[in-house]
Amino acid sequence: MTGASVRERLAPLRALRHRISVIDPASRWWARQSKAVQAAVIVAAAAFAIFYPLTLSQGTQSILFFPVGLYVLLALGLNIVVGAAGLLDLGYVAFYAVGAYTTALLTTKSGWTAWEALPVAILVAMIAGVMLGGPTLRLRGDYLAIVTLGFGEIVRIVAQNSTALGQARGITGIPHPGNFFGAEFKLLPLPYYYLALAAIVLTVVMGVRLNRSRVGRAWSAIREDEDAAEAMGVHTFTMKLWAFAVGASTGGLAGWIYASKVSFINPDNFPFFFSVIILAAVVLGGMGSLPGVIAGAVAIGYIPEYLRDVAAGEWITARLNTLIGGNAGTITEYRVLLFGAALVAIMVFRPQGLIPSRQRAAELAEAGETTGMAAAVVVSHEVEEEPREAADAEDAGAAATSPEEEAADAELPIEIEAAQTVLELRDVTMEFGGVVAMKDVSVSVRRGQIFGIIGPNGAGKTTLFNCVTGIFRPTSGEILINGKSIVGWRPHRVTEAGVARTFQNIRLFPNVTALENVLVGVDARHQTSVPGALFGLPRHRREERVGREEAERLLEYVGIGRRSGDLARNLPYGDQRRLEIARAIATGPSVLLLDEPAAGMNPSEKNDLIGLIRRIRDSGLTVVLIEHDMRLVMDVCDQLAVLDFGEKIAEGRPAEVRTDPRVIEAYLGAPGAA
Ligand SMILES: Nc1ncnc2c1ncn2[C@@H]1O[C@H](COP(=O)(O)OP(=O)(O)OP(=O)(O)O)[C@@H](O)[C@H]1O
Ligand SMILES: [Mg+2]
Repeated sequence: MTGASVRERLAPLRALRHRISVIDPASRWWARQSKAVQAAVIVAAAAFAIFYPLTLSQGTQSILFFPVGLYVLLALGLNIVVGAAGLLDLGYVAFYAVGAYTTALLTTKSGWTAWEALPVAILVAMIAGVMLGGPTLRLRGDYLAIVTLGFGEIVRIVAQNSTALGQARGITGIPHPGNFFGAEFKLLPLPYYYLALAAIVLTVVMGVRLNRSRVGRAWSAIREDEDAAEAMGVHTFTMKLWAFAVGASTGGLAGWIYASKVSFINPDNFPFFFSVIILAAVVLGGMGSLPGVIAGAVAIGYIPEYLRDVAAGEWITARLNTLIGGNAGTITEYRVLLFGAALVAIMVFRPQGLIPSRQRAAELAEAGETTGMAAAVVVSHEVEEEPREAADAEDAGAAATSPEEEAADAELPIEIEAAQTVLELRDVTMEFGGVVAMKDVSVSVRRGQIFGIIGPNGAGKTTLFNCVTGIFRPTSGEILINGKSIVGWRPHRVTEAGVARTFQNIRLFPNVTALENVLVGVDARHQTSVPGALFGLPRHRREERVGREEAERLLEYVGIGRRSGDLARNLPYGDQRRLEIARAIATGPSVLLLDEPAAGMNPSEKNDLIGLIRRIRDSGLTVVLIEHDMRLVMDVCDQLAVLDFGEKIAEGRPAEVRTDPRVIEAYLGAPGAA
């Protein structure tokens, strides 16, 4: 068969794949509905979940408790870690085990009742989450996955070998919860189903509240770009630890429910494979999407049990038996195989999951195209052309005004405090192995200046920014912000101290909206953490309200107010640069570092940018600008420093620097050249 004919044969498959991957009626329908309709749907679903099981046999009720109910609960918990914060955890079952064993020990050895053991089981699981997270969360991606996998196994092996935990026999005689509002617990499945349901509702409410708060935004920022998140003031480590702790507490709760229902547990209840199933449910349903995760877990929990007793299931089992040469009695023995097949199918046909989150869908749309900066630019321009203009008609009028005109009268919506000398570098040297990227560089930036840094490629300009913002720790020298030394501080602390930056190669959070990007910056000045968001404390509510207003006004200020609901990656290139500036200003800096903000802009966009930088300075913010465009630099800067091979070769007013022989030789070539 030739290559061409293979491609032809695969064409229908590819078309099918495309059709399946773009169908998303459920989420679209949901997004279009009013609050009242959404509430009605939720009430109907709740009524169904409460009353329908009453009509079922005890056997089915039992399945609805386990696997279905507990899979949903565990998947929701894992989704906080994997879906929201993007931390791949392959050992999630460990927390479920910790919750179950804590319950077992407290009730059988210390004589506690099941209800008394409940908060402790949750707390101990949470502590286990923090203990695992503390030392390991500095790892990323695959490394973290391997460590969590190991942790899951360690917990199981400890249970297997510890005499206190009953070794392989486990712990028996765990009491059922005492009666609760008249419900008989004992061994009947239905009360436990309701218990799981209540826990699920609680977890969903928790998930929704966290997602809509500073915490949720921090998690999605970490997921999108951890370094950029840190540079925007997100305490990435603390926030990741919270994700682990919250996820683990849900696991612990599930463990408590399980142990108090079955009344005996042993290490076989907590195999590695269990973690994989729960992860599969999350991926299958749609990482980060609450309805998706619930649907995924229900499917994975219920379908094999359903097929066990019906003719179709027997038929499939028989076919698989002949195909593989096995002799399975029921389809549940082929569970692993079928989950594997289902996951492969989902990954091929619908990688974003059954009911995807918006962020995840956007992420994968991007992955399908070329990667890297160039691709992002191309994509954004393409998207710019078609659907937007068609979508909202009022844009036609707005598009005629340039962003600069649109923003002309917007005021900088935040207050700035700064000392006379905002930023000072004293003899800063930065070496990478043998490469000296900066050598004894001293500069002093005064309040209200636009301070330019120029020099040939590789001169050390970006390195200077990276040293100031805490991404690199300089080999030697001092860096002072408003008179305070910040050498050795983590980037989020430097941001809090009053430094904000943009990146040479734009680093927005591409798959969230422009507004949410700016909100992450605004959040740097706020304090709400998990408890505040969970309980809707007054400070949280105030910060959300004020923060949103500020973020909207900042978007107006940089001239992209009407883009606030667009995903950052869908903005045209020039607007992405503006958005990055707005996000940086949102952190409330006293000095703003701009790394080649005009790169890739056309002359009219550059003119707009000059206007914007001037307005920023006039509002009292100090600006440090790295730029190659000499016209722009000469036009806008009050003071210039020239770097060459890591050394500062000149500093002064633009007119002086332009005529300096060393600068001409190293960088400019001929006087006045652009
Ligand atoms: N993380 C790193 N590890 C090793 N070397 C580095 C690192 N970062 C920068 N360098 C080196 O430091 C030198 C200065 O790089 P830097 O990115 O600061 O240049 P630049 O002035 O910003 O150049 P450009 O105009 O091209 O952006 C280069 O030789 C570069 O290779
Ligand atoms: Mg650079």
